[in-house]
Amino acid sequence: MTTTNSPWSRSTDAGPEGTNGNNIVIAFVVAVAENGVIGRDGRLPWRLSSDLKLFRRLTMGKPIVMGRRTWQSLPKQPLDGRDNIVVTRDESFTAPGAYVSAAPAEALELGRRLAVERGVNEVAVIGGAALYAAVLDDARRIYWTAVHGCPEGDTTFPDINLDGWTTVSEEPIARGPNDEFEATLKVLERLTAS
Ligand SMILES: NC(=O)c1ccc[n+]([C@@H]2O[C@H](COP(=O)([O-])OP(=O)(O)OC[C@H]3O[C@@H](n4cnc5c(N)ncnc54)[C@H](OP(=O)(O)O)[C@@H]3O)[C@@H](O)[C@H]2O)c1
Repeated sequence: MTTTNSPWSRSTDAGPEGTNGNNIVIAFVVAVAENGVIGRDGRLPWRLSSDLKLFRRLTMGKPIVMGRRTWQSLPKQPLDGRDNIVVTRDESFTAPGAYVSAAPAEALELGRRLAVERGVNEVAVIGGAALYAAVLDDARRIYWTAVHGCPEGDTTFPDINLDGWTTVSEEPIARGPNDEFEATLKVLERLTAS
């Protein structure tokens, strides 16, 4: 097991042995602008190719849980190499290539089971705002891309009291030609009462 604070190693540090449903971490993966915006018109409100690559690396191999609207916003369904779990109240909803779950808690439980089967230590909650809000109390880690801009949008990250969280790493994401904004990846972990 590694002891580094690098987000890359943190996301995969548990390995198959010793992984069980109790030590699976529920981790949010989100990109948030300075004004709290995360979405516009059912899509991402920016072009940030580097963050999409980062998202892929952070979530690859893991179960990913998302709301129905985020599923419908995906350019390609399902996201490859990951167990896609879609939450909807619509009993008739079908999502080819994904699991469909009627409730967030049920989706997380399925995610935990699949994480154990895959030998990974995280279930990634990938949005959107409604889903983040629904499972905020379950989150233990947040991969928070701070987008250094204020784009217009109609969907914002839910209010979160950061007093109960500590930033364990923070590093700039190298800006490429297809990135509209500068961005920084922060990894936050929930403080546990001692
Ligand atoms: N910046 C980022 O990191 C990021 C990440 C993800 C998404 N986004 C953006 O965020 C926007 C979408 O977010 P959103 O909040 O509108 O939608 P969402 O959270 O993706 O999906 C909402 C839907 O999920 C289902 N749902 C949510 N809570 C539920 C609950 N407690 N029980 C059962 N079902 C539940 C419902 O589906 P039904 O209506 O079918 O019942 C609800 O309408 C898009 O613009 C997307 O691009 C941004």
